[in-house]
Amino acid sequence: MYLGLDLGTSGLRGILIDDAGLVVSDAEAGIFTSTPKPGWSEQNPSDWIHACTRVIAKLRADNASAFAKLRGIGLSGHMHGATLLDAEGETLRPCILWNDTRSANEAKTLDQSPQMRTISGNIVFPGFTAPKLEWVRSNEPEVFSKTAKVLLPKDYLRFWLTGEYISDMSDSAGTSWLDVDKRQWSETALGLGHMQAAQMPRLVEGNEPAGELKTELRHAWGLSGPVVVAGGAGDNAAAACGIGSVKEGAGFVSLGTSGVLLVARDAYGPAPETAVHCFCHAVPEMWIQMGVILSATNSMNWLSSNLGQPVEKLASMVPDSIARPSSITFLPYLSGERTPHNDSHIRAAFLGVDVASGPADLTQSVMEGVAFAMRDCLEALKSTGTSPTNLMAVGGGARSRFWLETLATVLQVPLDVPKGSEFGAAMGAARLAICAANNAKPGDIMKPPKIQESIDPRNDLVEPYEREFGQYRQYYKALAPLAG
Ligand code: XUL
Repeated sequence: MYLGLDLGTSGLRGILIDDAGLVVSDAEAGIFTSTPKPGWSEQNPSDWIHACTRVIAKLRADNASAFAKLRGIGLSGHMHGATLLDAEGETLRPCILWNDTRSANEAKTLDQSPQMRTISGNIVFPGFTAPKLEWVRSNEPEVFSKTAKVLLPKDYLRFWLTGEYISDMSDSAGTSWLDVDKRQWSETALGLGHMQAAQMPRLVEGNEPAGELKTELRHAWGLSGPVVVAGGAGDNAAAACGIGSVKEGAGFVSLGTSGVLLVARDAYGPAPETAVHCFCHAVPEMWIQMGVILSATNSMNWLSSNLGQPVEKLASMVPDSIARPSSITFLPYLSGERTPHNDSHIRAAFLGVDVASGPADLTQSVMEGVAFAMRDCLEALKSTGTSPTNLMAVGGGARSRFWLETLATVLQVPLDVPKGSEFGAAMGAARLAICAANNAKPGDIMKPPKIQESIDPRNDLVEPYEREFGQYRQYYKALAPLAG
C-alpha cells in the first residue's frame, strides 16, 4: 500500500492505493487561509499537521488492515510557499503562500538582475519564494535573522514525518533559487536574494527515497515495517504524474483554483520573456512548461459568493452545449495575472454588462473569460515551440460540459476527459511513492488513464469565439495602463 498526500490550498487530500495503483480509500481535511491584509495569503504550518493527522485517522478508520500494509508515502503540495524555521526547527511565522502578492516590489527588483532569469529559467514572480524572503528581510528583520531553514509547504510536512530537511526538484524550481537546468541550488541566485545554501534543504528527484517515517509516527499509526517517503513534487508536476504526462509533449489543462496548461518536455526549454513557467519535472531528465492563470475556478467561487448562489447552481444555469459567445466579456484577473502578462496590478473586469444581464449571463462570461485566459497561455506556450495536439482536461471546472466545450473551441484543441476521478496530484504523489519504495521506473508506473470522452472544438463556432478572444485581448491592453 502507498499513500499520496496532497497539501492543497483549501485542504489536504490523502489517498491510499494498492500495488496495482488502484484507490483503496481516500480522505480530506480542510485548511484555513488567512488574509490579514489585501493581497496577503497565509497558512499556519501546524494546521497542515492537524489536517494530516485527521486524514490518517480517517484512512485508518476506513480500512485498517490495508493501511497497516503501508510501505511508502509520496508528498505533493501547493508550490512557492515560504515556511521559515529557526535552528531548532520551530516555525518563525505563518507560511506566506503562492497567491500572496505582498512582495511584488521585491520580485521586480530581483527580476531586474539578469542572472535570475538565466539561472532559474523563469520570471521572478511575486508569488515565488525568493521575493518573499526579501520582503521578510526588509519588514521582519528579527525573523529573517533567525531563519535557519526555508521549506516549501509539502517539505515541512516531510520534516514532521521524517525529521529531515529534503526537497525535490520540481517544487524547488519554483523558488527562483534553483538552477533549473542543472537541477541544483544556485549560489548566485541565493546570494542575490541574501540567502545561503545552508538554509536550503537537500535535493532529490521526486521518485527517489527522501526520508523514512519516524518510529514514533509508525507506532502511533499502527505500522510495523519501515515506510519510505518519496521526494514527491509540487502540485502541478505531481498532477502530471497522476495523469501520466511524463513523456515529451504529453499535457493537460487544469481548471482548479488556479488554471494551468502544462506540457511535459524531455529538454530544458526556458522562455521567461513569455511568462511561461519552466520547472523541473518530478522525474529525472524531464521538465515541465506551463502557463499559469491565478483565478480559474476561483473566478466562479468569487461569482458564487457575490451572487449568494452555490457554484453548482450557477453552473446549472448554462446549457450543456455552447451556442454563441456571451455579449459580456470577463477578465479573470481577480489577483493579477501571471501568464502571459506578469501583471500584479491588473484586476478583474466585466465589460458589456446590460440592464438585462443576469446570473446566467455572468456565469457564461466568467467561464469564457477563464477560457480566453487559458488561450493566452496556449499562445505563450506555442511561441516557445510547444504545441500540444491533445490535452487532458482535469480539475473541478472540468465537471462542466459547457465550460469544456467553450475551452476546446477557444483553444481549438480537443480535450480528453479521463475516466474515473482519481488522477490528480494525490495520485501522482502516491505513484512517486511506488517508484521510491520499489526503485521502479516512473514510465512503468505513470500510465495515462482511459479516456471517457473527447470534447472537440465546435468548428461552426470557432470564428465568433476567435473574434471575442481578439476583443478580450484589446480590453486587457486598454485597461492595463489604467490599473497600475
Ligand atoms: C504554480 C502555482 C500554483 C500553486 C498552487 O506556479 O503557483 O499552481 O502551486 O496550486
